[in-house]
Amino acid sequence: MFVDRQEIAGELLEEQSRVQAHRMRTRDLSKYNAIIFSADYSSILTFVDTEVPGAQSLEGVLEGLATRPSSQKTHWADMAGGFAIGMRQVAHGFAGPDAAKVAMSCVDLFDWEGESDEEDIKGISEISGVDMHDKQPNLIVANAETVDLPEPADVVTSVEGIQYFYNPLAAVANWYNQLNENGLLFVARLPLLPWSGNITQAGTDEQTLFTRIFDNFTQNGVSFAVEGPGTKDDPDFSLLALQRKEGTRLQQNAEVLQVTTDTEDYKSVVYTSDSPALEVVLS
Ligand SMILES: C[S@@+](CC[C@H](N)C(=O)[O-])C[C@H]1O[C@@H](n2cnc3c(N)ncnc32)[C@H](O)[C@@H]1O
Repeated sequence: MFVDRQEIAGELLEEQSRVQAHRMRTRDLSKYNAIIFSADYSSILTFVDTEVPGAQSLEGVLEGLATRPSSQKTHWADMAGGFAIGMRQVAHGFAGPDAAKVAMSCVDLFDWEGESDEEDIKGISEISGVDMHDKQPNLIVANAETVDLPEPADVVTSVEGIQYFYNPLAAVANWYNQLNENGLLFVARLPLLPWSGNITQAGTDEQTLFTRIFDNFTQNGVSFAVEGPGTKDDPDFSLLALQRKEGTRLQQNAEVLQVTTDTEDYKSVVYTSDSPALEVVLS
């Protein structure tokens, strides 16, 4: 475990400790797959199939990448990963990939396992089918917005995390910039709003911020797919998938102007009008 708590403000820990006590932190692989690889998300499935032919699940993507003719391990990083149940399932070889070929990092503000009592851990082990004390992933206790991974990742996921962040665009840029070339990023977030619903830019309407970002991706040849909200499996989620283009990074042009928190404890973040708010630049 690597703990980078110095970087985390005490107020953020206090806030998220309160907020997350009532949130789902134990999604397993099947739930991640239902959210990210839902049959309702045809553009995401097409995107994935182009990058990793035949893959229709997270473990399929990991397996596809792990069997590339490369001696390197495939590195999956899950941002705001909670109890990292899916990682433990992959490590147990539940759903395919040769565990020795996959390295995994779970980034979260908390070591949820360490902070839970043994009764709860037993319950989670029973429900998830994995012994929580066995095959623990590399836990990085840090703010996912700013975390420095120990090594670049081939796949970065984030499920129901980014809506709690004070600077979600910085998080997306940070994750993109720590992907290996051609690495894949999947960001799924609540709530029942269009992608741009509560990430806005001063002086423009809701759609404009993301329209400009996506136009910039297209102009610079960055592959991406966006869906949501609403799949049969989980009608609340919206999803962004993108691939890091060789020799590029994402630069954040717009700064945070205002953050408010709604009754669901989700953040609405208003950025300055600098456009595009995220821009593809040469690395
Ligand atoms: C609703 S849970 C989702 C956990 C997991 N992805 C799942 O679906 O089971 C949200 C997680 O985000 C974490 N979190 C919130 N803000 C964070 C931040 N700034 N950096 C890292 N983790 C954060 C919380 O501690 C919590 O574990």
